[in-house]
Amino acid sequence: MGFLERHKVLEKNATLLLAGSLVVVAVGGIVEIAPLFYLQNTIEKVDGMRPYSPLELTGRDIYVREGCYVCHSQMIRPMRDEVERYGHYSLAAESMYDHPFQWGSKRTGPDLARVGGRYSDEWHVDHLTNPEAVVPESVMPKYAFLMDRMIDGEYIADLLSTHRMVGVPYTDEMIESAAADFRVQVDPLGDWDGLVERYPGAQVRNFDGQPGISEMDALIAYLQVLGTLVDFSTFTPDASR
Ligand code: HEC
Repeated sequence: MGFLERHKVLEKNATLLLAGSLVVVAVGGIVEIAPLFYLQNTIEKVDGMRPYSPLELTGRDIYVREGCYVCHSQMIRPMRDEVERYGHYSLAAESMYDHPFQWGSKRTGPDLARVGGRYSDEWHVDHLTNPEAVVPESVMPKYAFLMDRMIDGEYIADLLSTHRMVGVPYTDEMIESAAADFRVQVDPLGDWDGLVERYPGAQVRNFDGQPGISEMDALIAYLQVLGTLVDFSTFTPDASR
């Protein structure tokens, strides 16, 4: 009996064909899934990544609360047009401390994964206050009220502890200093050495340009750190796995 003849047996018997198909699919599934059980980690380690500073984390909460992700993604795909427009494609490690991650699936506005440092703080204040004043054709809503909502970081230590519970490596020291770190990040004249030691690359400025700490300060601190932690002039993908 030739091969085709033998195959006829399968083709003529629906139950046997179904059983055979299941075996083939199961083998394919195991080949894909089994190696994941033996990997410690599917996220490659990347220099520079650190948890968000207390002020940045607060800004991230405001970003989530206001639903910015409804119009903005934070994931640059490894396709040429995206990389040319937004910069190096996003690495898994860059979202490692994001709970929940902000990859998004809708781009009414541009991707924001690397918006940090692209504009000045003043630009962000003007743009968030009234986007059309800066980009006349913009359909982005106004967020001027963020300037008037003052925040004191009352629950910031709890917020850090909560993120630690889901796996972000905040240390006891970071949690103890959370309230002070929160306040000093908008105060260039303050004693921010500890903050920058705990959160390398943290930017210390009066982000919204007015006295006190507003939600605008926190949101801009967050936007300005996006995509700035990994140095892509020295980064090389780990090809060993
Ligand atoms: C209804 C959709 C929509 C929502 C919601 C929205 N945006 Fe936008 N956003 C846009 C559009 C459209 C643009 C492009 C035009 C412009 O620059 O205003 C934009 C542009 C931006 C830019 C400039 C990006 C660049 O690379 O030029 C930033 C930063 C930004 N948005 C931040 C935010 C933040 C923060 C929030 C939440 C507080 C938000 N957006 C909410 C639609 C939206």
